[in-house]
Amino acid sequence: MKVVKDIVQMQRLSQQLRLRRKKIIFVPTMGALHQGHLALIKHGHQLCSGTPHALIVSIFVNPTQFNSPKDFKFYPRTLPKDLSLLRHCKVDYVFTPSAAMMYPEGAETCVEPGALAQYLCGATRPGHFRGVITIVAKLFHIVQPDFAIFGEKDFQQLAIIRQMAKDLNFPVQIIGHPTVRESDGLAMSSRNARLSPEGRRRALAVVQGLREAKRLTSSGVRNVTRLKKAVRHILQEKGKIDYLELVDVQTLRPVKTIKQKTLLAIAIFIDEVRLIDNCLLP
Ligand code: PAF
Repeated sequence: MKVVKDIVQMQRLSQQLRLRRKKIIFVPTMGALHQGHLALIKHGHQLCSGTPHALIVSIFVNPTQFNSPKDFKFYPRTLPKDLSLLRHCKVDYVFTPSAAMMYPEGAETCVEPGALAQYLCGATRPGHFRGVITIVAKLFHIVQPDFAIFGEKDFQQLAIIRQMAKDLNFPVQIIGHPTVRESDGLAMSSRNARLSPEGRRRALAVVQGLREAKRLTSSGVRNVTRLKKAVRHILQEKGKIDYLELVDVQTLRPVKTIKQKTLLAIAIFIDEVRLIDNCLLP
């Protein structure tokens, strides 16, 4: 496994891989790696088993996607541990550029998302998805992947990246991977490490809320007000709800009744840590 810090060097390595007809599988991350990230890597290898391929992971805590300086400052950074985890996952290259290299003095161009960014995290974190898709577009130009893999916990991020790749004609296939959960159901997230033991217990309300909504919809409930009320009842007093929405899976627009596949999406602050999760209903 080779650690690459330089953009031009990474670009050249990717060009060589392409010349050698190797498929490039890319897993972009912000580090603080956990089993969820490792599942994305494993999925990447499975995707191209039997075909010559190279797996590239990037680790870059992207400053432009944080809308709170405090959140950026306290985002967990565990590079030595991350690298030792990746050494066991048959990763070929780890790209770890500096912020000064990714955003040199005078950089001013960004990629602006469309309507999909109006809702959910896009509404409560202005500018967040601009930061996400700008860095993802830059990483795609550098790594030149055939496949890029993202977790479905960040459902809206995945939808916006798919749209961006399509709209800007990136020759990359965007792959979604189901959310990986702890044994008690909590969605794996780098942010979980910042929860106190008591906050960790309260965080379970999120998955309990999702389960309750699933239970209600499978018993025939379609009314969104009723579903939201039931989930809010479980979440209240566990943290500060940022949003609790039921949205159309294609457009991410809020719906009033469940007529077709609907996404229940939750964002909540627990111990000042912002957690998100979602599930499809019914
Ligand atoms: O999901 C993440 O970890 C980040 O948003 C991403 C896609 C690596 C961009 O910084």
